Amino acid sequence: MAATALCPGTFDPVTNGHLDIIERASRHFDGLIVAVLENPAKRPLFSVEERMAMLKEATSSLDGVEVASFTGLLVDYARARGVAAIVKGLRAVSDFDYEQQMAQMNHHLTGVDTFFLATSPNWSYLSSSLVREVARFGGDVVGLVPAFVRDRLAERLGEKA
Ligand code: PNS
Repeated sequence: MAATALCPGTFDPVTNGHLDIIERASRHFDGLIVAVLENPAKRPLFSVEERMAMLKEATSSLDGVEVASFTGLLVDYARARGVAAIVKGLRAVSDFDYEQQMAQMNHHLTGVDTFFLATSPNWSYLSSSLVREVARFGGDVVGLVPAFVRDRLAERLGEKA
């Protein structure tokens, strides 16, 4: 197994599904870099610094997990960090087509390998976009994200209202 792997994503915000993958992946690699995509073309609910802060808080008890951010191509960031493995979670068949395309393109570009972890069934319906939508319309996201993330969602959506 590669010594260090990269677990990339948008994490807007981190969910319990992400944390399931991060925690399980961290057991299989000596190091795991959780890499937050900074995409100036998108307008996320939380800034990259806020997303990183939430990830750091949520993963603080996990050994060997680092939180970082990147812009541009994931493969360039992986190469810059000397990482030859990417870890992604697969929730359902609907994730597979796009994830496979990205994995194959990334492999074509630099030879980096992608390892897929099956998401725990508890979280197969969970996504950051659904969490944002439920919270935006007043639904309770308790149990879907860490309690402090739920609080930050409420604060942010309150500020926007
Ligand atoms: O959490 P997400 O939105 O599913 O994460 C997608 C992410 C960030 C992993 C993907 O969009 C990505 O790697 N973006 C960086 C740009 C890039 O390398 N694009 C080419 C992918 S083949």
